[in-house]
Amino acid sequence: MDVISVIRTKRDRGELSPQQIDWVIDAYTRGEVADEQMSALAMAILLNGMNRTEIARWTAAMIASGERMNFDALSRPTADKHSTGGVGDKITLPLAPLVAACGAAVPQLSGRGLGHTGGTLDKLESIPGWRALLSNEEMLDVLGTTGAVICAAGDGLAPADKKLYALRDVTGTVEAIPLIASSIMSKKIAEGTGSLVLDVKVGTGAFMKTIEDARELASTMVALGTDSGVKTVALLTDMSTPLGLTAGNALEVRESVEVLAGGGPADVVELTLALAREMLDAAGIKDADPAKALADGSAMDVWRRMIAAQGGDPDATLPVAREQHVVTAPASGVLTRLDAYDVGIAAWRLGAGRARKEDPVQAGAGVEIHAKPGDTVTAGQPLLTLHTDTPEKFDYALESLGAAWDIAEPGTDFTATPIVLD
Ligand code: URA
Repeated sequence: MDVISVIRTKRDRGELSPQQIDWVIDAYTRGEVADEQMSALAMAILLNGMNRTEIARWTAAMIASGERMNFDALSRPTADKHSTGGVGDKITLPLAPLVAACGAAVPQLSGRGLGHTGGTLDKLESIPGWRALLSNEEMLDVLGTTGAVICAAGDGLAPADKKLYALRDVTGTVEAIPLIASSIMSKKIAEGTGSLVLDVKVGTGAFMKTIEDARELASTMVALGTDSGVKTVALLTDMSTPLGLTAGNALEVRESVEVLAGGGPADVVELTLALAREMLDAAGIKDADPAKALADGSAMDVWRRMIAAQGGDPDATLPVAREQHVVTAPASGVLTRLDAYDVGIAAWRLGAGRARKEDPVQAGAGVEIHAKPGDTVTAGQPLLTLHTDTPEKFDYALESLGAAWDIAEPGTDFTATPIVLD
């Protein structure tokens, strides 16, 4: 087998054979296929697509590139959730302990942010002492004792995806449905969860900009999970405006703790509860009441034990950025749009995200949101507060906010986009 013939097959809109797929994934993982060859193939796939048979084989080859975990020894059913990524998407933080408090075991292998989307691990690392990197034994121990664990995927899990994802990120080949679906599902199937709820984001701040693309991605991933014996369901949810009132690491942890304390922004609470119900249903847990577990403090108890079990201090003061800059409303009226992508870029430029994988992130950096679409605003009132340790970045962040919102005449009717679209 040679890689050039594999690239040519896809370049010329052909179907990759199972042998070609198995060989190229294995050879790339071993370093026999070079990055420039794999990036040519990834671009050919982005441009010409793959059919469901090819996607299933590609996913299986990525799973086979590493180890598989197994949670059979746990006494509870396992439930996992995966979001395709967005701005202000802190839902995993309250959701994992909430679903654990309702009786499931939640092994939440999570990622870091890159570009304008935030990453769960970066957020949690703003808690002093908290560790994302656990051995498989430590992970199972935290999961067994607290019911939930949020940590980085070990190096042994789908190593082909680890390499390929990093390559796609720097070659403009992230936004391909076959590659996104196989990337996410190879990790989830290798992880060994019994059930999985996919939160497929749609809108300016998401990888999928249209509901049609989101539907196609969702149905591809649901088919991959179901065919592998994982009970998989998907929700399509809105990402045209940031979730909640914060985008940034420590800022989002603070907001998540508010949700666990029974408060927090309505959209974050609504989506957390909707996903919790889907996860419990998929795990076969029928009689739990997630709203009650938020209100009575049992989800907060799991959160505190889970953070402490990973070395974190749940009572520690969270980092605050050294400098703030308030952006005010230029006119009075009804805020009809606050763009998720623009706010995500601003948070990233302020230091909440990284441009390259090895860059550090600022724990306190990000954007605080004082008005959401549908709110009435008065000229001069604070709309956003920008937070950073590097104030020379304020102008750079403000550039991305130049067309981030619309304010309509006072009294204009406004119909909010529902959080759960389908
Ligand atoms: N998340 C992943 O894990 N992979 C992708 O390709 C996109 C989002």
